[in-house]
Amino acid sequence: MQFHRHRRLRRNQAIRNMVKENHIRVEDFIYPIFVVEGENKKEEISSMPGVYHFSLDRLNEEVDELVSLGILSIMIFGVPHDKDECGSSADDAHGIVQKAIRQVKENFPDLYVMADTCLCQYTSHGHCGVVENGEIVNDASLERLAATAVSQAKAGADMIAPSNMMDGFVAAIRKGLDEAGFEDVPILSYAVKYASGFYGPFRDAVHSAPQFGDRRTYQMDPANAREALREAASDIAEGADMLMVKPGLAYLDIIHRVHQEFHLPVVAYNVSGEYAMVKAAAINGWIDEKKVVVETLTSFKRAGAELILTYHAKDVAKWLKEGSI
Ligand code: PBG
Repeated sequence: MQFHRHRRLRRNQAIRNMVKENHIRVEDFIYPIFVVEGENKKEEISSMPGVYHFSLDRLNEEVDELVSLGILSIMIFGVPHDKDECGSSADDAHGIVQKAIRQVKENFPDLYVMADTCLCQYTSHGHCGVVENGEIVNDASLERLAATAVSQAKAGADMIAPSNMMDGFVAAIRKGLDEAGFEDVPILSYAVKYASGFYGPFRDAVHSAPQFGDRRTYQMDPANAREALREAASDIAEGADMLMVKPGLAYLDIIHRVHQEFHLPVVAYNVSGEYAMVKAAAINGWIDEKKVVVETLTSFKRAGAELILTYHAKDVAKWLKEGSI
């Protein structure tokens, strides 16, 4: 009988390692960090075990650990005290994110710092843009977003990562950065961002749940794939340097298609809800955390992501370092 013996290449660890097609490396990770105002705070986010809110005086100890684990990059999210209608603290030179960026770049100049550029953490209504008469207005939001990006670049951000999903945000931010002399600061566009139930724990963490309505007039319908390609094409035309697909796990097909269609680096955002599900099951002893995490992150690489924004980064960096995966 004629058939192929695929199992020949699985017989022992050496040959399995030799034919492995995709690897996860510490260089693949971007680690999200939440900074809050106040003092001496390192508070665990209840729906995200192992992830904390840090006040600035406790931030360096965390970043120190990340650097010693070999993590090359972080994404900073700010949780401000004061919120208002137009999110005025988003572009404040002394806002929480700007202070955090400055501090990290001063103390860890080689760490690559990305800034999330959005208004929802800063607005009292929790939307990602400016609200007028109950509507999230597009063009008025662009100005606020560009100002926010410029203030983050001034603070020293190495890369701007806008997550707001207004139309034209890449063009507006690129123009703002160029006019302010930051033509060398790249933009990682959250080009393809779905209106997802997987953001729940993050919204708890940054207190950004919309106070009315939802985000479906600006974030994408999870049912759509071709629209993702239109979004990505627009952002590339407007000047994006890298593309994000978010969430990751339920959208591996989108990561794959964006990677096939375009030639910019693709980042998968392994979002808070994905993390929370794994942690909850692991804490209950229902799954083998290490196996499931490695399998999940490998699936992003297999789908075509060059980089992964993930809350698991620290754990995986430790496992890689100790050689346990
Ligand atoms: C802000 C933003 C969100 C996330 C990152 N930036 C949430 C949202 O759109 O409500 C979610 C990240 C996560 O769930 O880990 N626009």
